[in-house]
Amino acid sequence: MRRMQREAVDRLFVGCRELLTLGEGPATGARRRVAKDSLEVIADGAVAVQDGRVVATGTRADVEARFEAESIDLGDRVVMPGFVDCHTHPAFAATREAEFHLRCQGADYMEIAAAGGGILSSVRAVQAASEDELTEHTRRHLARFVEHGTTTVEAKSGYGLTTADEVKSLRAIRRAAEGLPLTVRSTFLGAHEVPMEYRARRDAYVDLVIEEMLPAVEGLCEACDVFAEPKVFDLRQSRRILEAAKSRGLGLRVHADEIEPMGGAELAVELGAESADHLPQVSEAGIAALASSDTTAVLLPGTSFYLGKPKHAPARRLLDAGAAVALSTDLNPGSCHTWSLPLIVTLGCVLLHMTPEECITAITINPAASLRLDREVGSLHPGKRADLVALDLPSWRGLGYLFGGNPAAVTVKDGEVVHRRA
Ligand code: NIG
Ligand code: FE
Repeated sequence: MRRMQREAVDRLFVGCRELLTLGEGPATGARRRVAKDSLEVIADGAVAVQDGRVVATGTRADVEARFEAESIDLGDRVVMPGFVDCHTHPAFAATREAEFHLRCQGADYMEIAAAGGGILSSVRAVQAASEDELTEHTRRHLARFVEHGTTTVEAKSGYGLTTADEVKSLRAIRRAAEGLPLTVRSTFLGAHEVPMEYRARRDAYVDLVIEEMLPAVEGLCEACDVFAEPKVFDLRQSRRILEAAKSRGLGLRVHADEIEPMGGAELAVELGAESADHLPQVSEAGIAALASSDTTAVLLPGTSFYLGKPKHAPARRLLDAGAAVALSTDLNPGSCHTWSLPLIVTLGCVLLHMTPEECITAITINPAASLRLDREVGSLHPGKRADLVALDLPSWRGLGYLFGGNPAAVTVKDGEVVHRRA
């Protein structure tokens, strides 16, 4: 047999009991109607890396025959693309366990909010923090994603609610991200709640968001989000803010149809939003609109679970209609306090009746596509960033099966090991 010259690369990641590349499908674009084949599960796999990018994937024998490099052993684990979390609220300065305690005694999330607690209590803490203090809190919150195997995160402001405090929040996210092995994309959420002093003149707050905040946050974010709810920002107010953001070139993401139905999903699709998020109350028309659009349905079962809501997003109907579906944590101090996408996969399987294959797609390539980062992350196609997570699981099917533990043993970002569980 002819002896081939092996190509020199920076390193090979080996010790992949099963390697999921998602390579049996297009490198870019959200996936709909996924099957197991699209995951591409390689037994005893390896990844060749050069300059922080994937060069090739395959069986260890094949990759070692083609490439010469130092090997890093991932410990006979299930290895897949680093998780992509496309809906999080990490720019907060204080936790809200007292509110959790109240909810356990029967208080309702929206009642707490109407009385000035909830989001507004986080707003008081953020307003009281200096930019340096908020940067440090945000850095701590973002760092925990890395421990849980997440390598790309969308991060929202939204606990500032004044122009200065929203700018401070987005600057804190940017500064926190600079020191971390995490790809972070920022979203402006000045329309997260109506401050108390505007409750009698809500349109004046909408004016402030449009006329003062949007110009002030230019260059600090890539997208704009609105908490579109009848009792927070109604359809007309949500549309005004989103249209203004769109005209400034921002991507649109919408907290839609979460607590009460309002046609938020239809609005998101009509405006060409990147995503419509939450959706327990989405209408039939909203499902149909999402299915025939490029707007990703971002489902957050951790939130409906944590708030004790009986109704979850109709994932099965969305998937079967052909919508692009992503799953995210919604990490925040009030309605969902978790960093774990594997936990969200369990909830996706059990509460939303999604298949494990659909869930894996929903925490990798689909959220990457919704963030317009699918050329960079979300699968292990050659040329993408070498972002990996090595999971302590017997097989990829165990991702949802494990309940409540953290299976992420090693996290690799841009080809470097950035976290190894002690
Ligand atoms: O997505 N619903 C609005 N925003 C967050 C909750 C934020 C909070 O309670 O602090 C959400 O669930
Ligand atoms: Fe949210």
